[in-house]
Amino acid sequence: MERLKDKPTLTVLAIESSCDETACAVVRDGRTVLSNVVATQIEIHRRFGGVVPEIASRNHTLAIENVVKEAMEQAGLTRDDIDAIAVTYGAGLLGALLVGVNFAKGLAYAWDKPLFKVSHIKGHIAANYIDSDLKPPYLCLLASGGHTAVVMVENYSDISVLATSRDDAAGEAFDKVARILGLPYPGGPEIQKLAREGQPSFAMPSVKLGEELYFSYSGLKTYVINLAHRFEQTGQPLPRADIAASFQQAAVGQLMDVLGEIISRTGVKKLAVAGGVSANELLRARMDALKAQGCEVHYPKLKYCTDNAAMIGAAACFAIRDGAEPDGLDLDAKATVPLK
Ligand code: KG4
Ligand code: ZN
Repeated sequence: MERLKDKPTLTVLAIESSCDETACAVVRDGRTVLSNVVATQIEIHRRFGGVVPEIASRNHTLAIENVVKEAMEQAGLTRDDIDAIAVTYGAGLLGALLVGVNFAKGLAYAWDKPLFKVSHIKGHIAANYIDSDLKPPYLCLLASGGHTAVVMVENYSDISVLATSRDDAAGEAFDKVARILGLPYPGGPEIQKLAREGQPSFAMPSVKLGEELYFSYSGLKTYVINLAHRFEQTGQPLPRADIAASFQQAAVGQLMDVLGEIISRTGVKKLAVAGGVSANELLRARMDALKAQGCEVHYPKLKYCTDNAAMIGAAACFAIRDGAEPDGLDLDAKATVPLK
């Protein structure tokens, strides 16, 4: 019998439910998206200022069946055309992940398809392969709500971690600072918008680049909290746009400083970005500027930067081609998953 990894074309139905997006996509050969459906819960969580895990799980349960049906309809395929089911098993909110994992298991069982687990982070990296001809090895700057890292993508299955955050993730810092400035969740796009109206006039803390490279966002967040208190005490209005611009410059500056140091230490000039923060316009401008130094820069399309299932399908296709073994129906969700 022909092995799955050797099939001339590989069509994967992927499910993602790790946070507040219920998503399903059909992906062919890791680079072509046949459908990509995302039901977002952002409006529901906005009134709480962030994602409420219990509410996220319930809304995934309500949405998932229709999201999967819609993805199959948009792809114009039937179950016979699907070679495998892929699902995000971690990292993320446990109750939210379980909805996708259990739905994927049910589908794999009912349709008699192999099931493949995908790490959410590997999915974010694989978003770079969609509609692109990017091939490893390359350096990937990963910045999402849960992770901040520079990784060396050695091949489609193996990455090595060169720097991570010692405390908060970059996206988390955007969300927290947005909250201090009275902006709605999710904070990243809101800070980006407000920053356009301000000047980066506040010198915010940065990390010291030593032998060991790392990110740290808690100092930056505390700096903004203290700044807000100072304005409150003196009764002056908070210069929100200037703070947003200063914070964005410092947050993106830190990402670029560490990445720049790693580029010069490794000599690797093929670069990609991944995760929700990779949608940031200042980050993209700073990455583009590296082209003048001979770097090749890859970005996922904006719709594949934030959470979606197409990236999970893409990661699964490459894992299957690399000979990954299918998972059993005892597959469990994991709140945390090692980066590698
Ligand atoms: O990758 P993602 O969708 O979910 C996680 O896996 O965490 O990332 C979400 C994060 C949020 O913190 C959000 O504020 C941030 O990405 N984000 C941005 C932008 N768009 C989303 N941060 C900065 N600038 C943006 N344009
Ligand atoms: Zn994500």
